[in-house]
Amino acid sequence: MYYSEEIIEEIRSQNNLVDVVSEYVRLQRKGNSYFGLCPFHNEDTASFSVSPDKQMYYCFGCQAGGNVFTFIMQMENFSFIEAIKHLADRAHIALPQPEYSEEIRRKIEEKQVLLEIHKETAKYFYANLRSPRGQQASEYLIKRKLKENIQKLFGIGYSNMDFADLYQYLLYKGYDEELIAKSGLVIPKKKGKGYVDRFRNRIMFPIFDVHNQIIGFGGRVLDDSLPKYMNSPDTLLFDKSKNLYGLNYARTSGKNQILIVEGYMDVISLYQAGFENVVASLGTAFTHQQASLLKRYTGEVVIVYDSDTAGTNAALRAIPILSSAGLKIKVVQVPGEKDPDDYIKQNGPEAFQRLFDQAMGAVMFQVSIIRKKYNIEDTEQKIKFTMEVAQLLSKLDNEIERDVYLQEISNDTKISAQSILNEIKKYRTIQRRNTNTINQYSKKLETQPKDQFKTNQAPSTMDEKNGLYKAQKNILSFLYHNPLHYPKIKPHLSYEDFTDPVLMKVAQLMYGQYDKGLNIEPAAVINHFEGLNEQKQVSKIFGEEKNKNQEFDIEKAVNDQIKLIKKANIDKRSRNATDIYEIQSLIEQKKQLEKLYINLISG
Ligand code: GTP
Ligand code: MN
Repeated sequence: MYYSEEIIEEIRSQNNLVDVVSEYVRLQRKGNSYFGLCPFHNEDTASFSVSPDKQMYYCFGCQAGGNVFTFIMQMENFSFIEAIKHLADRAHIALPQPEYSEEIRRKIEEKQVLLEIHKETAKYFYANLRSPRGQQASEYLIKRKLKENIQKLFGIGYSNMDFADLYQYLLYKGYDEELIAKSGLVIPKKKGKGYVDRFRNRIMFPIFDVHNQIIGFGGRVLDDSLPKYMNSPDTLLFDKSKNLYGLNYARTSGKNQILIVEGYMDVISLYQAGFENVVASLGTAFTHQQASLLKRYTGEVVIVYDSDTAGTNAALRAIPILSSAGLKIKVVQVPGEKDPDDYIKQNGPEAFQRLFDQAMGAVMFQVSIIRKKYNIEDTEQKIKFTMEVAQLLSKLDNEIERDVYLQEISNDTKISAQSILNEIKKYRTIQRRNTNTINQYSKKLETQPKDQFKTNQAPSTMDEKNGLYKAQKNILSFLYHNPLHYPKIKPHLSYEDFTDPVLMKVAQLMYGQYDKGLNIEPAAVINHFEGLNEQKQVSKIFGEEKNKNQEFDIEKAVNDQIKLIKKANIDKRSRNATDIYEIQSLIEQKKQLEKLYINLISG
């Protein structure tokens, strides 16, 4: 981690959660807790609670929960580091300057200057557009119906006709030639020394990152000449595959979906029409980095690509990438071979909104495309269609979801659901065989590194509803609420017995505190996790204790769950064991486990 545990803990303790939340939510005291309307979902009755003792919040409606960092991350769409900086600022705590190597420091300085160069350049293009030289460009923007205020908001400008106009300007401003070259805004002269401008006689669109810093440009010609668009090359600041045009605005639009379109003009035009939640992938194929960037700000995306072949293919390629980032996907097809910009200008925002209301889910979109390829009146083509649809549906893990599509497709095509299902089963068998091979292979790999704790730091993949996972979570929760039982449990269950990587780390932290005779502060434990999902997962451990007042056999439950965890562990080690003594020892451990009973009440 970037900052030390001590400083993170200091920042947390100096930002009282009740005060921080009160800046966003009206809270009322009820008993030991405060209640208010949940800021993370729509509701009329207050189910959002803040506990001043635990310094944690929890919503009984949407299960959002965490500490002050989690709250700010969710509220402000911040990363963990951004939340730390924000709260340090709020509490007037000076963050230490991280220690950098000479080389890294030079890189940071270079980046800083490149950002300045981009800002100067944007100002320069902006002023150009509004000068006599920019008259033609200005008329072009009027023709495309871009209002003055929107032009300003997106910082639209114009690059002059001359060969080295910007280059001379940047030199005059005192920037180093080498750094101007690194900005990608100029290119070396073909003959002789020196540089010329990359962008000439183009409408200029600054590309912002999520912090509203300009990291590159796109430039469009004023007529039909080619290439129509030109983008900044990849530089120290700019990486096309990691940025999305418009995300700086879309992320704070307050809407619960983000629209994905193809071009600059589509973003700006939709924004002007009131759809502020829109981004473009800058003409390149959608990447995994862009998908996970989006996932930071939304749970659902709507792909709004042109309905021509290129647009449809781009949508089909984007779907699996967006889906693997965990995003819910809808697809809107703009009718009449138009792009969203043309459509909204011809038909208005209401008509565009109606397209949304009819948006298809990603699966039905994919089916509709497959459907177009075949004439299902023809028997042979009907078989091919069935096979292709089955292959698509076989990739869905959720059986209920699969059934819904199955019915829908069957109704639509009059192909019996059973025959599609039979095909699906074939594909599932093949897939299972493949997964088994992979599992066997990875099992072999797993036995190699001995330092498993370190290599297992990847996000938890275990299903949270899985019994083994629940057992681990419950034990941790029990230990938190019942510190006096810790000495009895510890000899039988070490933190390394936990199989889920996140929960194992929580266990390690809890054991560490108890061993030192200290209390556990849930909010401090959460500090050790940077991802919002992990933080939520951890905060659930410290939620309200269930069955507290019931005469429920907790002792038996604790014993059963500890046995379950230990058994899973022994089983896992047995699968990997090769040494005869090791196997004997595991058999012995399993026997002992049968007899294990921890007496919590007495002794
Ligand atoms: P307008 O014609 O101004 O409405 O542009 P558009 O956004 O409708 O453009 P189009 O649908 O043709 O292209 C979509 C996006 O692809 C653009 O916004 C650019 O980001 C990118 N693009 C289009 N043409 C080119 C090109 O010639 N070169 C590069 N590098 N990118 C392009
Ligand atoms: Mn267009």
